[in-house]
Amino acid sequence: MLHGRKILLVVSGSVAAFKALMLVRLLRAEGATVRAVLTAGGARFVTKEALAAITGEHVSDDLWAAEAEIGHIRLARWAEAVVVAPASASRLAQMAQGLAEDLAGCVLLATRAPVLAAPAMNPAMWAHPATAANVALLAGRGIRFVGPGEGPMAEPESGPGRLSEPEEMLEAIRALFAEGPLKGRHVLVTAGPTREPIDPVRYISNHSSGKQGYAIAAALAAQGARVTLVSGPTSLAAPPGVTLKPVESAREMLAACEAALPADAAIFAAAVADWRVAQEASQKLKKEPGAGAPTLAMALNPDILATISTHTARPKLVVGFAAETERVIENAQKKLARKGCDWIVANDVSGDVFGGGDNTVHLVSAAGVEDWPRMPKEEVAARLAARVAEYFQ
Ligand code: C5P
Repeated sequence: MLHGRKILLVVSGSVAAFKALMLVRLLRAEGATVRAVLTAGGARFVTKEALAAITGEHVSDDLWAAEAEIGHIRLARWAEAVVVAPASASRLAQMAQGLAEDLAGCVLLATRAPVLAAPAMNPAMWAHPATAANVALLAGRGIRFVGPGEGPMAEPESGPGRLSEPEEMLEAIRALFAEGPLKGRHVLVTAGPTREPIDPVRYISNHSSGKQGYAIAAALAAQGARVTLVSGPTSLAAPPGVTLKPVESAREMLAACEAALPADAAIFAAAVADWRVAQEASQKLKKEPGAGAPTLAMALNPDILATISTHTARPKLVVGFAAETERVIENAQKKLARKGCDWIVANDVSGDVFGGGDNTVHLVSAAGVEDWPRMPKEEVAARLAARVAEYFQ
């Protein structure tokens, strides 16, 4: 898939920059041509000579020297994809601001090719609201992200911040070139449970694993769509080429969905908590001797599916899920009307659907009801993605 592709790799400053060299190996093994731009920060961790040897190409690291040789505009035009790996906190901030103070900044502004960023930084830096805002801004402009992951890092802290493995970055680059019927379409997917806080240490949630929603996001990306996956807490990694927006509560999920619009289609596979605790306690609720159990007043959560179905920027195709334990079809048909969506994927959850690998669903729309046989969640996802593709044909 990458044979003959021209990929421009921007290596910025991170101790993980050595993985960029491994990524070049993998890309070249697939037949891609890789040119590299080394930032001043990146040059602290890998040498220009190492990058030149491994890419087999001249490495650019100086805006002014590059002007004399190939020129940043030509370099930007040459690239069919630009990959920023590792993308440091500072590089993401510069990209968000559109700063063009060095060669990497100029190329990133001048390119019309898809851009993929693979962040790598200390977990506290990744968690900082400034970084989160920069990532949100860039994702909103269509920049794709892969990672960061969790795992051993140079720092003693743990949490997300680790540069994705070269194989994961390769998968995400393949996804940039994914040709398919949904190329050029943006699809929003929700997945997982929501977590509704009671106090700083307790919450109300449900057993949703997120498997079905993540599989749908992956299947849509494989059909060439640009996918934004708004997900509650799960143990799953973002599928390659999918932009993950992690959220916790239903209200956060709604805000992230609205921020992701416009979209051509939206698929709401999340198991959103219907209620939240009306007043989240700012301190941990105490078990006072003799006081008995507290009574928690509940409030209704927003219905994300219904809200987006009537939104001024409503996606053309809106798909909801209906988890039912009885009268599955009848309830799904009612839900279709009540929520204002186009299709409902109805499933019987009286069995082992939550966390399980298989699903039995019915596709309910104004056109009628289709019964799909029991199949793995990945296959449900692939079929649904194919139906979405057909809809836009
Ligand atoms: O009403 P019910 O929860 O059964 O509807 C299920 C569908 O509505 C799913 O697609 C789910 O993602 C969506 N939903 C939502 N926001 C809620 C409740 C459900 O988006 N607050």
